[in-house]
Amino acid sequence: MVILMSYLFSQQLQQIDNSFITRFEYGAMLYENPRGVGCVKCHEKGDKPVTIAKYKEKDKKTKKLIEKQIIAPAINNVDFNTFIEKMKADKTESKIMPTYFLTNEELKSLYYYIKNIGTRK
Ligand code: HEC
Repeated sequence: MVILMSYLFSQQLQQIDNSFITRFEYGAMLYENPRGVGCVKCHEKGDKPVTIAKYKEKDKKTKKLIEKQIIAPAINNVDFNTFIEKMKADKTESKIMPTYFLTNEELKSLYYYIKNIGTRK
């Protein structure tokens, strides 16, 4: 049964890869247009941290202004669990990253793409 399942699964993956667009291209498309704000807007290429905002905040104790920044981290080395957790969380810690409603198939392609950023093109 397990063997049959994994056989069917690999067949399915092959089908996607051999279809009119590759999994990589499909992932790249989702990265730019994931039915919401494109990942590319904040993470840019995804291979290094991007400062998306800087602001100053008063430290409650010292009363001094301290500079803070919001950084969209590099995501090309993120492990699958972290990726899924982030994509399925309705509020991420920064309260910056939007919530997305992607199917598992879309998430797999998107993950495949971000893991391969910089290895092609
Ligand atoms: C509006 C800006 C913004 C957009 C758009 C955005 N992100 Fe993020 N993302 C962030 C910020 C800021 C963080 C770090 C703080 C946090 O985890 O919320 C982050 C964190 C992450 C992380 C966790 C990285 C780690 O090492 O924990 C992943 C994975 C991720 N983003 C993937 C994506 C993907 C995929 C998309 C598109 C579907 C996307 N992000 C769109 C701002 C953004």
